[in-house]
Amino acid sequence: MTQTVSGFSKLSKSEKINWIIKHHLQDSADARTIILQYWNSNEALQNLHDEFIENTISNYYLPFAVAPNFKINNAIYTIPMAIEESSVVAAASKAAKFWLDRGGFKAEVINTSKVGQVHFNYTGSIQSLQDFFKEIKPKLISATEALTGNMIKRGGGIIDIELRDKSELLPNYYQLHATFETLDAMGANFINSCLEQFAHTLKDEATTNAYTKQNRLEVIMSILSNYVPECLVRAEVSCKVEDLKDNDGINPEDFAQKFVQAVKIAEVEPYRAVTHNKGIMNGIDAVVLATGNDFRAVEAGIHAYAAKDGRYKSLSHASVENGIFKFWIEIPLALGTVGGLTKLHPLVKVALQLLGNPTAKDLMKITAVAGLAQNFAALKSLTTTGIQQGHMKMHLMNILNQLEATSEEKQLIVAHFKTHTVTHNSVIEALKAHRTK
Ligand code: MEV
Repeated sequence: MTQTVSGFSKLSKSEKINWIIKHHLQDSADARTIILQYWNSNEALQNLHDEFIENTISNYYLPFAVAPNFKINNAIYTIPMAIEESSVVAAASKAAKFWLDRGGFKAEVINTSKVGQVHFNYTGSIQSLQDFFKEIKPKLISATEALTGNMIKRGGGIIDIELRDKSELLPNYYQLHATFETLDAMGANFINSCLEQFAHTLKDEATTNAYTKQNRLEVIMSILSNYVPECLVRAEVSCKVEDLKDNDGINPEDFAQKFVQAVKIAEVEPYRAVTHNKGIMNGIDAVVLATGNDFRAVEAGIHAYAAKDGRYKSLSHASVENGIFKFWIEIPLALGTVGGLTKLHPLVKVALQLLGNPTAKDLMKITAVAGLAQNFAALKSLTTTGIQQGHMKMHLMNILNQLEATSEEKQLIVAHFKTHTVTHNSVIEALKAHRTK
């Protein structure tokens, strides 16, 4: 039976489903039912989703949840989060409540510039290239006027273009390194269009310019960079050490000391740093996804930033000085609140409404806070009770669903585990015991 196909994208949606069921799913009626069950009954809405990407056959749901009580720069937010991991939203909400009573989160955008590069090879001298670049730089910018007009009117556009010599890394390799301000747009299309125009101008001018025409200039590619260390946001919480006391009955001094040590471990130990930062990304990705932004771009940029000093490190930091506990994060976040999915995906629109239709800068602050809150919740559990207690409580419902427990059984078992430790086996045993009563 052949597993390859040509012209697949031209088949209708039903034909595509028939093909995969026949060729990959052993003609399974169950698989067909599941694929169809996930279609939306509203045809227009389903068509919208079908057309986001090629070869759509169904929808893939993630829970869309909210974490209330986030006080950020004295305003209160209910933060939308799209994520499958059972304990994340509960942890975020708990951290939000904890800091609500201690002054809330402070956040500030440090800068917002984004980067794109035209990568090219040049066989002549660096001096001839520098002279050429100096001469054509105004043309590089003026040739993009049709693309940049609207962005400039709104206060953004191209910030600068530099010629960068990378020939020590690769023979004959140079870059146009451009910086952009894209305001409330994530700006990928804007930046890539400008870069492709720079590349055309660069190539055209090089063939006729006196400095370069004897040499070979070859454009390799033009693309934005998802490394945005100059699109940076900082979020912070602080309080007196004694105010760290809460209902868990922890000793605030011991807690602060252990917490700071846990962060310092993530600053020096990459094995721990990766997991520490993964916990931060639990919060960040969930907000990035819910607000229709590109979480792959955000992930790539943030992890590169975590390794910017040559070793992968914690993105967050903590200190105790003069009796004040301080915990903060600084991360690059290129986010948009206009364009892309933000106007297209109905749930994304709701998510943004929920946040009061934020500017991109506001969304950077909210997202950084979600990451910091998530990290606080994880470290608080890790350095006190351990994470399994809370995590398994949240996971209990997943286990009960796997075991096909009825609503009544769920109620009884959840009540039972208020005072017992949740493990996969203990849940099976408790359900068995209940069923054989
Ligand atoms: C689990 O998704 C995230 C944690 O492992 C983060 C951490 O260890 O800091 C709990």
